[in-house]
Amino acid sequence: MSVKNVVTNHLTNRRVLLAISGGIAAYKTPELVRQLIKSGAEVRVIMSASAGQFVTPLTLQVLSGHPVYSDLFELEQAAEQPDHHEQQNSAMNHIELARWADVILIAPATANTITKIAQGMADDLLSTTLLASTAAIMIAPAMNSQMWLAEATQKNITQLQQRGTTIIGPASGELACGEIGEGRLVENSVLLQALNHHFSEGPLSGVQITISAGPTREPIDPVRYISNRSSGKMGYALAEAAQRMGADVRLVSGPVSITPPVGVTLIQVESAREMHSAVMENSGEIFIACAAVADYHLSEVPVQKIKKSNSVLTLTLSPNPDILKEVAQQATPPFTVGFAAETENLEKHALNKMAQKGIDMIAANLVGDVDSGFDHDHNRLSVYWRDGVSQLELASKKIIAEQLMSLVHKQFLTQK
Ligand SMILES: Cc1cc2nc3c(=O)[nH]c(=O)nc-3n(C[C@H](O)[C@H](O)[C@H](O)COP(=O)(O)O)c2cc1C
Repeated sequence: MSVKNVVTNHLTNRRVLLAISGGIAAYKTPELVRQLIKSGAEVRVIMSASAGQFVTPLTLQVLSGHPVYSDLFELEQAAEQPDHHEQQNSAMNHIELARWADVILIAPATANTITKIAQGMADDLLSTTLLASTAAIMIAPAMNSQMWLAEATQKNITQLQQRGTTIIGPASGELACGEIGEGRLVENSVLLQALNHHFSEGPLSGVQITISAGPTREPIDPVRYISNRSSGKMGYALAEAAQRMGADVRLVSGPVSITPPVGVTLIQVESAREMHSAVMENSGEIFIACAAVADYHLSEVPVQKIKKSNSVLTLTLSPNPDILKEVAQQATPPFTVGFAAETENLEKHALNKMAQKGIDMIAANLVGDVDSGFDHDHNRLSVYWRDGVSQLELASKKIIAEQLMSLVHKQFLTQK
């Protein structure tokens, strides 16, 4: 895909430091550099020593118009020799590069480089520059799917996300090793879109929004669980709409099969209690509870699988925490939006729920409808707040999400 897919270009005169590490997908970076420059960005490139095995510094140097380095000490020497060749005059040492960048994009990011950045190592030019920089960091992992799914890699990724690093991808598909799975470097167009989004200004620019989405799973034994029909489509559409409005979005999601929007921080959970901890950790300035959270969990989950028998099986359930209510009852609560899925008396139940939980807004829908709601691509909502109501007529969840976010934005401003 091409740069044209970026709707609005916010990259003009932005300083992008592209850090390439040693994965096979490094062969795609010359094209990325070309597209970034075409979008008006200023681009400098640094590489790990291994990256040079996959793409030549010369190609990147010619395309970026600046020297490309991978050796910390070679760069230092080049930066200190003002009388050299004209191109070398534009050499900066690693500290200058770290200060120069508005954003640092590591693409492709190897498992090794991800580990080093997570641990704060500084044993080569790439890692030292990263550690020395206060610029926003974006990481686009690319590796074999076992390497990606390895517990060590996942822990490093979680740690980086908690520090505010944006993780872009990886995508699923055919990998260089011949396997099919998660681990592909996302397309260049996705990287451009993520960078573009990073610099975009919107009505919710800088506002932190936490959105919960999808179902929860309450284990019955090691292999079975209680869950519900929520697909997560509405929550994910809201995350995308909020992000388009410039918000910093944290999506706390139960198990679903949707790819999250690029640049959104995804926190994957299973049970209601896990969702509760993830939301309470940071419920943002706006919290939208879109997840279909189980009301109960099994009081005691057996360690072994429950054996089939002919007698009646009774499961004892205990209530789960009320995430929405707890968020709204915090000392300084965020602007809190709840969802009510009802099968009858929509308005009455929705208004009751809003009052009972002390929330600011509620979006209610009838789940019995054949054309909308749970697991459908369409929805219709009645949205209530303290002194207003709005009917969002049947439309795609994408459109409904945009309309709802615009109502949330308006009410958030009036209550600020
Ligand atoms: C042919 C080949 C392809 C490789 N592709 C990847 C890859 O896609 N992702 C990855 O994490 N490591 C990959 N590696 C391993 C890295 O090159 C290796 O871990 C190296 O130490 C990474 O160093 P760096 O992170 O400093 O660039 C590959 C190695 C070889 C020999």
